Amino acid sequence: MKRILVTGSNGLLGQKLTDLSLADPEIELIATSTGPDRHPARAGYIYEELDVLDKVRIEELVAKYRPDAIIHTAAMTNVDACENDHEKCYALNVESVKYFVEVCEKNDIQLVHLSTDFIFDGEDGPYTEEAEPNPLSYYGQTKLEAEQLIKESNCRWAILRTIIVYGIVSDMSRSNIVLWAKAALEKGEPINVVNDQWRMPTLAEDLAECCLLAVKNNARGVFNASGKDLMSIIEIVQRVADYWNLDKSLIRPISADTLNQAAKRPKKTGFILDKTIRVLGYQPHSFEEGIAIMEKQLLERNA
Ligand SMILES: NC(=O)c1ccc[n+]([C@@H]2O[C@H](COP(=O)([O-])OP(=O)(O)OC[C@H]3O[C@@H](n4cnc5c(N)ncnc54)[C@H](OP(=O)(O)O)[C@@H]3O)[C@@H](O)[C@H]2O)c1
Repeated sequence: MKRILVTGSNGLLGQKLTDLSLADPEIELIATSTGPDRHPARAGYIYEELDVLDKVRIEELVAKYRPDAIIHTAAMTNVDACENDHEKCYALNVESVKYFVEVCEKNDIQLVHLSTDFIFDGEDGPYTEEAEPNPLSYYGQTKLEAEQLIKESNCRWAILRTIIVYGIVSDMSRSNIVLWAKAALEKGEPINVVNDQWRMPTLAEDLAECCLLAVKNNARGVFNASGKDLMSIIEIVQRVADYWNLDKSLIRPISADTLNQAAKRPKKTGFILDKTIRVLGYQPHSFEEGIAIMEKQLLERNA
């Protein structure tokens, strides 16, 4: 039996972790997030409100529940917002990680932390776990700084790096590429999509599974945890259109330079997954399998 405390449980990954924990008799879940619980089950686990910037409350909850592991998913994940608000981004993506490192060191708790492909500059993806980081955005810089402070700590840690997470959960605070493209194309709206950046999109269920594998295997070190298909962003959207039989002529190719986004993005990321497959037994779905899983969930919701 493993008792796991999850931060940011209202988020996309957080809610998928709740789903998996509910189906796993070996896991006792303490789900935490800001505000009320947004997972529809609201039973079979404990929910506590937790702002990850509140060090005293973190210590209180750890003393109350004595978890074996903490999966720290809460973060400031909007890359452009991070560029425009360094202070908030640093607090959430670095300061809060310090609090978790300290509490895990003090109480011998395993820390599973989520990181990103945006720690790389995108010049020579796909990347192994050992590749040299060079972030282009403030978001990427803060996620890298968090990785460094975890690596320098004395706690039992695993860092899972992921890429464009997609999926569907209740009451989402932000969309993702699959839902955005599907909604726009269904409405018949033309969309501009970059054709000069490449990614390996990750099904939220796969990432949640990988987090639990890290806990169950008491994993230590850095692990790549993305999907397995490397595609240009426009190809991702075209494959979404193909799956739902939507009008591909609405998809207009553009170069990333023309977007004027606040944060610079890496050109080509993607991960080599060999280590995670070998050490953790990670088995990500293909992109089409991932969309089919989402489709089933959408149909169940509308039934
Ligand atoms: N999504 C991606 O494409 C992607 C790519 C690479 C890496 N990652 C990493 O993967 C992790 C999980 O991402 P995700 O997609 O699940 O993100 P998400 O859906 O944005 O979830 C993050 C959750 O954290 C919550 N949160 C924000 N501030 C908080 C605070 N002060 N205290 C407690 N909770 C707080 C958010 O609450 P609200 O919902 O109320 O805002 C949200 O529910 C993050 O560490 C992210 O950096 C994500």
